[in-house]
Amino acid sequence: MIVRPLAKNAQVLVFDDAAGLEDFLLGMWAEVARDAAGRRGFFAAALSGGGTPVGFYRKLAGLSDKSLWQKTHIFMVDERMVPPDSRDSNFGMINETLLGSAPIPLENIHPIRTDGLPGICAERYASVLSGFFRLRKGEVPVFDLVLLGLGEDGHTASLLPGSAALKEQERLTAAVHDEQRHDRVTLTYPVLNGARNVVFLVTGEKKAAVLERVVEKNDTALPASAVNPGNGTLFFMADPEAARSLSKGSYRKM
Ligand code: 6PG
Repeated sequence: MIVRPLAKNAQVLVFDDAAGLEDFLLGMWAEVARDAAGRRGFFAAALSGGGTPVGFYRKLAGLSDKSLWQKTHIFMVDERMVPPDSRDSNFGMINETLLGSAPIPLENIHPIRTDGLPGICAERYASVLSGFFRLRKGEVPVFDLVLLGLGEDGHTASLLPGSAALKEQERLTAAVHDEQRHDRVTLTYPVLNGARNVVFLVTGEKKAAVLERVVEKNDTALPASAVNPGNGTLFFMADPEAARSLSKGSYRKM
């Protein structure tokens, strides 16, 4: 295990409960979105699946600033290779909890299509990103906000331990084979690390051990430890259960 200190641009915030965390994140979302919309004419966010962000997405759906939604573009951090109506689809979950009820124009929603081989679907999503962000060769998109989850094994997005996608330094997306569950398509480190704000949402006691390994040991054996937006800010937002193994002084109580 190689241990290095947590990046200087990182903040660990611990809330009284999940509701407090979600309210704070909602405020941050609105602030970052307004700032981005004012500065670049649009706000681009990449969202994760999993169970942790469900409560936040439901709250976010109630954000009533219509003109802000007009300028908001939603992308996916990763997707499982299942049809969008599958209960395992990340897009399906985000559509049900957020996009179906938020006043966002259809053309501002950018799912990862899963009708094809994983490698093809990954390439296709890279083209979606290149087209939207008007990238030239070698450039990476700059997301205003990326929301990530943290797996108990230290994965984030679909950057699974041992996966070849962890080594990807050039492509924007990668296909990931998952022996036990569904194959996936994921954004790669260059994209996550090119963002202005990256937020890990971490709740529940099952995540306490891995959060401690990422935040206090920055254990490089864990994929999540390599997320560090060089020109941005990295946030870990946790509830008391997930934060219970963190030592006092390593986080800010909110
Ligand atoms: C996915 C995710 C993944 C997720 C973590 C945490 O496709 O599952 O995008 O990276 O964020 O596995 O999942 P939970 O929030 O369910 O714990």
